[in-house]
Amino acid sequence: MSTPSSTIEPDSAAADPIPRDAVPKHIAIIMDGNGRWAEAQRLPRLAGHKAGAEAVRHVLEAAGELGVEQVTLYCFSSENWKRPDDEVNELMRMYVHHLVAERELLKKHGIRLAQIGRRDGLPTEALEELASTEGQTKPGTRTLAIAVNYGGRQEITDAVREIAHKVKAGTLDPNDINEQTVSDHLYTRGMPDPDLVIRTAGEMRISNFLLWQISYAELYVTPTLWPDFDGDSLHDAVREYVRRHRRFGGLGKES
Ligand code: IPE
Ligand code: IPE
Ligand code: MG
Repeated sequence: MSTPSSTIEPDSAAADPIPRDAVPKHIAIIMDGNGRWAEAQRLPRLAGHKAGAEAVRHVLEAAGELGVEQVTLYCFSSENWKRPDDEVNELMRMYVHHLVAERELLKKHGIRLAQIGRRDGLPTEALEELASTEGQTKPGTRTLAIAVNYGGRQEITDAVREIAHKVKAGTLDPNDINEQTVSDHLYTRGMPDPDLVIRTAGEMRISNFLLWQISYAELYVTPTLWPDFDGDSLHDAVREYVRRHRRFGGLGKES
């Protein structure tokens, strides 16, 4: 039976309270639909990305209040380099801006920032500010992982290469390679797998995101465009997650 402190108050009379212990520990988000949002407002795509950055702030606040321990945001995929140069440059410029602008807030709330993705190809300024923010935000109970220049296949490929080097060097016996070995060589090493993956803007695909890590994550796709996704939207997603029955191939908790 729940006590008042073990639930999060509903944000409307119709909504069920969310039991604290049922909140996903790790939520990963494919933040899609910035371009469509801008198009609907007859604004340039860049305006959609700016509005999307505002949405990040609201969603992180709501995640913190819910007690979510890790949020992973898909910001720029290894395939997004195909976009026009001005859009890519603006996305990188925005990333650098937020790495600096949010540093103090992350420190104040004890949130560790970690970037996942290949570092090569990123602007020098982004790498410098990233090193600074990663260095100043220490591991604690909460993590914000930013997927930039991230591709799930690249990540697995890089892990396989690193493992192969260790085998060649004689520091790893091929017979000792197990699932944990692979996990330990991913960009996400040391992080828990996502419990819930949210994709905004309605596409029913994964777009090369966390391919290994989401094998048993619950998927939630909403037509809401990312700039319109807010704290209430996150609560809706978490409520849906709480209603799901995760079985992991078994017969459920009762089995
Ligand atoms: C997501 O929004 C942001 C990035 C991929 C960087 P999009 O820019 O993909 O928006 P749509 O899909 O064109 O609407
Ligand atoms: C996925 O969105 C990548 C990010 C949100 C950063 P895309 O807009 O790149 O995905 P596709 O092209 O529709 O699959
Ligand atoms: Mg898109």
